[in-house]
Amino acid sequence: MPSPSPLVDLLADDVAAPWWRQAVVYQIYPRSFADADGDGLGDIPGVTSRADYLAELGVDAVWLSPFYPSALADGGYDVADYRNVDPRLGTLAEFDEMLAALHARGIRVVVDIVPNHTSDDHAWFQEALAAGPGSAARERYIFRDGTGPDASTPPADWESLFGGPGWRQVTEADGTPGQWYLHTFAPEQPDLNWDNPEVRADFEKTLRFWSDRGVDGFRIDVAHMLTKDLPDPLPSQAEIDALPFDGKHPLVDRDDVHEVYAAWRAIFDEYDPPRTAVAEAWVASDRVPLYASPSSLGQAFNFDLLQSDFDAAEFRDVVTHNLELASRSGSSSTWVLSNHDVVRHATRYGLPPLGRDSRGRGAVKQGSAWLRTGGTDPELDREGGLRRARAATMFLLGLPGSAYLYQGEELGLHEVAEIPAVERQDPSFFRTGGDDMGRDGCRVPLPWTTDGESLGFGSAHAHLPQPAWFAASAVEVQESDPQSTLSLYRAALALRERLQTSESLEWVETGRDDVLHFRREGGWSVVTNFGTEPFALPAGDVVLSSSPTDDGSVGAATTVWVRTI
Ligand code: GLC
Repeated sequence: MPSPSPLVDLLADDVAAPWWRQAVVYQIYPRSFADADGDGLGDIPGVTSRADYLAELGVDAVWLSPFYPSALADGGYDVADYRNVDPRLGTLAEFDEMLAALHARGIRVVVDIVPNHTSDDHAWFQEALAAGPGSAARERYIFRDGTGPDASTPPADWESLFGGPGWRQVTEADGTPGQWYLHTFAPEQPDLNWDNPEVRADFEKTLRFWSDRGVDGFRIDVAHMLTKDLPDPLPSQAEIDALPFDGKHPLVDRDDVHEVYAAWRAIFDEYDPPRTAVAEAWVASDRVPLYASPSSLGQAFNFDLLQSDFDAAEFRDVVTHNLELASRSGSSSTWVLSNHDVVRHATRYGLPPLGRDSRGRGAVKQGSAWLRTGGTDPELDREGGLRRARAATMFLLGLPGSAYLYQGEELGLHEVAEIPAVERQDPSFFRTGGDDMGRDGCRVPLPWTTDGESLGFGSAHAHLPQPAWFAASAVEVQESDPQSTLSLYRAALALRERLQTSESLEWVETGRDDVLHFRREGGWSVVTNFGTEPFALPAGDVVLSSSPTDDGSVGAATTVWVRTI
């Protein structure tokens, strides 16, 4: 029998534990990662060129935010063609090269699927506009007649999640004002009609297309919104807001969305190893297991840590609750502190905590308020924020389950607040008249070197401006500094391999409200001091710490990993 190739070895699934259960997945926002062709926009060959960087970092997989053809009305989440690469970002052949380069290094690849809406540039939407009311082409989207004497009032007063109205009127082919279509997000993102079998069939084709190319898994964008039940007449926004999220809501988190995912699951399971999926579902936590269940998508994001302050009680509650949810679904839990939609965690933790609001989103709201002041008020504690971020990340990486990291957090990057209005790109900034500054500040291209036109990102001016202070965080600087955040991430990911044994933990009482200590099987302890008073190191060998422990204690805002046997 021929011996297995190194590639097969590297990607072999442990029979007892599928690869994704405790994987570290690194999110790449392709347009801001690395620009190989020097047009100011990151691209697929740019990712390939940094394959060694990803391997040295020690990630198990990368998740690529959309790289498909797009007019960029929403950073690529407005997809014009689901089975292609944006020509500005590369070609399908270059995608295959990237996949091969990552696979050769034992790194899996997860791609983003955006099924709630297409771009208005998508061939289907253009066809729907041309075909007119009552056509089969319009049935793929959610078109309705307007109301009022001349049908010039939207079919309902719904608001888009990016601000402004959620329905837009089209001009019919003969030039007359026509029907209205639903767009939960930007007007350039018309919602698809998931009651339409053609829509379902086309996404199944897309999943097969990427699976056949060798993609290992999928991140499903707004997975809780696809199916809708729109009665006639449509309810008002106020009526909708009063409805519970009980699986029967007309727009959100409907039980019947899992019929779609059951069909997808059958497709994933046709492959060996089965393709994976993770749901981006902003739903009440007791509904998360529905998405994470093996008969549905198999894993779901848990955004609870990302929405918490740097606070021992909040962190402990979140962990306990989510491990319980994971045991309910049979999936592993996911942990995330930063992504392309929120203020970076080094910055959130450098702002005074607001405390939990009724929706538990104090930390995220504080970041948004700070952005509105151009990053001046409250004053950002840069060093303290980074110190807490390093401690929180090591806490997260010590947990059982899979960890999702966002590009640039391994450099300890802060949010960029100082982007001039003319250079901003996020639709939420424009649609709220600047009330919501949007998400551009966490999407600024990475600094690779200390000088050069775009700090090594590429040879041209980056598509979002990099501040001068980015240079001090460049990969080039951090690689040679053993105390850097990059070195900490590399060391933590290398050690984590040995930490991820069983998917459980045991809390150890610390006698302090502001210190958490948990033990993993195999003699590993993780201790985080969320407070300011030093805490005595537990017995054992400190194998890694987020800040120095020279005085024999776990200092303020510090996590240590201790080997106890
Ligand atoms: C998800 C994405 C976000 C995007 C939205 C609409 O929440 O993470 O970036 O704007 O969906 O597709």
